[in-house]
Amino acid sequence: MSRRVVTLAHYYTAPEIQKMADKVGDSLELSLFAKQSDAEVIVFAGVRFMAETAKILNPRAEVILPDRGSTCSLVTQTDVNDLKRWREEHSDYVHVSYINSSAEHKALSDWIVTSRNVDDIIAHLYSKGRKVIFSPDRNMGAYLNFQYGYDMPLWSAVCEVHDKFNEEALLTAMQEVEGSVYLIAHPESPLPVLKRANYVGSTSGMLKWIIDFSGDSNSTIFVATEDGILYNMGLARPDLKIAQAPIYAGCQCNQCPYMKLNTIEAVKRAQSGDGIKIDYLTEAQMNAARAPIEKMLAFSQGDRSVW
Ligand code: 13P
Ligand code: SF4
Repeated sequence: MSRRVVTLAHYYTAPEIQKMADKVGDSLELSLFAKQSDAEVIVFAGVRFMAETAKILNPRAEVILPDRGSTCSLVTQTDVNDLKRWREEHSDYVHVSYINSSAEHKALSDWIVTSRNVDDIIAHLYSKGRKVIFSPDRNMGAYLNFQYGYDMPLWSAVCEVHDKFNEEALLTAMQEVEGSVYLIAHPESPLPVLKRANYVGSTSGMLKWIIDFSGDSNSTIFVATEDGILYNMGLARPDLKIAQAPIYAGCQCNQCPYMKLNTIEAVKRAQSGDGIKIDYLTEAQMNAARAPIEKMLAFSQGDRSVW
């Protein structure tokens, strides 16, 4: 008897991969969907930390990542032993970690956040008089410190895709455009770029901003994030001029090499049970990583009793 398979895809995968998926979304939406799914097999067309999060939240399901190489630079730039020492040096702080982190990293965290809820969760912790350290994304942390006047010590990793966006190239491109010009950006982008943005938020937040856009349709909207989501933006608002924000050098395409390993062949193979099975996390590792994720999910559903 064939097993029930559900396929999830992040917005950064190619359009043909998104079309193969039962659910397309941002990190938070995909995590929630995985947790609530009753499928026996979850194929995760995303990157490894996303597939691991799905397994941690739904340990009964078999979770399959289509390609072994689908990592994330925020994960590979973080040595967990160094992180452990850093955390020990800040033992009186609450450690908030971005979901773009390994299961081991999550287990060393008090809270997990996504780009969708990071502002609210950190504001909540400060409102309770807590001091926060933030890892692994230095750009996101710098933005939060600037935007809200925090002084969080920050870990030093960056996303190799978003870190390429560049203020100087952006200002030049903006000057060349006729009519009104806007910028929306993912918070993994560098702070000088984020300071220029009309909106900073998650992939689904940026998509919503585009859907709701009520300005002049002759405007140009630059988007500082991976180019996969431009497909969703174009589908939602074909009337708008939407362009990827420029980067500091090179061809000006800006794709996540790890997300793009989700090819049609690899996803089809995974759907038939062949791929990287997320079966290597022990129960103890999953329990330790699940606790800070569950806090985030409870907070997202309105629970303010945890801090
Ligand atoms: P979102 O949670 O905003 O979808 O971001 C995931 C990601 O990897 C951004 O680079
Ligand atoms: Fe990681 Fe950056 Fe790729 Fe997102 S875009 S998965 S943060 S490398």
